[in-house]
Amino acid sequence: MLKNQTIAVIGAGHMAGALIGGMVKSKLVPAKSVIATRRGAEALSELQKKWGVRTSTDNKKAAAEADVIIVAVKPQMAKKVLEELAGTIRKDQLVISVMAGVPTAAISRLLRVDAPVVRAMPNTPCLVDAGATAIAAGAHAGEKDLARAEAVFSSVGLCVTLPESALDAVTGLSGSGPVYLYMAIEAMIDGGVKMGIPRAVAAKLAAQTVFGAAKLVIETGKHPAVLKDEVTTPGGTAITAIHVLESKGLRSVLIDGIEAATNRSKELSKLFEA
Ligand SMILES: NC(=O)c1ccc[n+]([C@@H]2O[C@H](COP(=O)([O-])OP(=O)(O)OC[C@H]3O[C@@H](n4cnc5c(N)ncnc54)[C@H](OP(=O)(O)O)[C@@H]3O)[C@@H](O)[C@H]2O)c1
Repeated sequence: MLKNQTIAVIGAGHMAGALIGGMVKSKLVPAKSVIATRRGAEALSELQKKWGVRTSTDNKKAAAEADVIIVAVKPQMAKKVLEELAGTIRKDQLVISVMAGVPTAAISRLLRVDAPVVRAMPNTPCLVDAGATAIAAGAHAGEKDLARAEAVFSSVGLCVTLPESALDAVTGLSGSGPVYLYMAIEAMIDGGVKMGIPRAVAAKLAAQTVFGAAKLVIETGKHPAVLKDEVTTPGGTAITAIHVLESKGLRSVLIDGIEAATNRSKELSKLFEA
């Protein structure tokens, strides 16, 4: 689908680096079809060495020769970079944005062109090919544009399509989600240490437990409540812990956290309203 296309990646930092790695490793596109840009020449040279991609410090030049332009600068740089690209981006090019909280309507307005725009909300596990990304079509994007964007994000993990109105909730759930689980892993490590397990061993056991539980949910397709019920022996240890976790509000606190992050994402998006 992207085989003969050139992809410009504007703002080749952490997230974009993961996407470049995913696209090249999965042979979605040949390395030479990718042009990565950022201001730091040294970091570009590292990207070139690592993945064999072309690099440039000239955003306009890179965008002009691409079929697909992935914009991955920080949201606070969005206005500057999109205004710089206005006049360069054409209607026949696809723009994919990973910038959190920047609506497709604002991207089109700043680019001053009705080019198709697909907005994505990935997460950092994209760095280890285990990302969870939701993509949404802007007003001028169609099925073929979504399919090209899906190919990009599927090269670094799971990719789902949703209406753009759901992307704030995706930010609250999977975009910010790794952080909640880092906190859970850290707390589980402390729990293990408190009960006498050496910290380094507790760290391995806690992380592997979260990984294994997620893998079981994904691979069996079973509802998490079914998996939970399967391992709760009457009068046993798990049900004793469940009672404590329920009485301390573990589930409610996670739901509240996702709600708060979603609302914060909505507030931040307002900065880009016309
Ligand atoms: N990290 C996440 O978990 C996550 C999740 C979802 C979405 N996102 C989104 O992904 C985007 C990037 O995040 P990140 O964590 O990858 O940040 P990052 O590592 O700071 O990457 C942004 C890159 O943009 C480059 N840049 C800044 N100004 C530029 C300009 N004028 N022209 C070209 N490049 C420029 C910077 O490099 P130089 O300083 O060398 O120019 C930097 O490497 C953000 O919009 C964020 O909302 C991130």
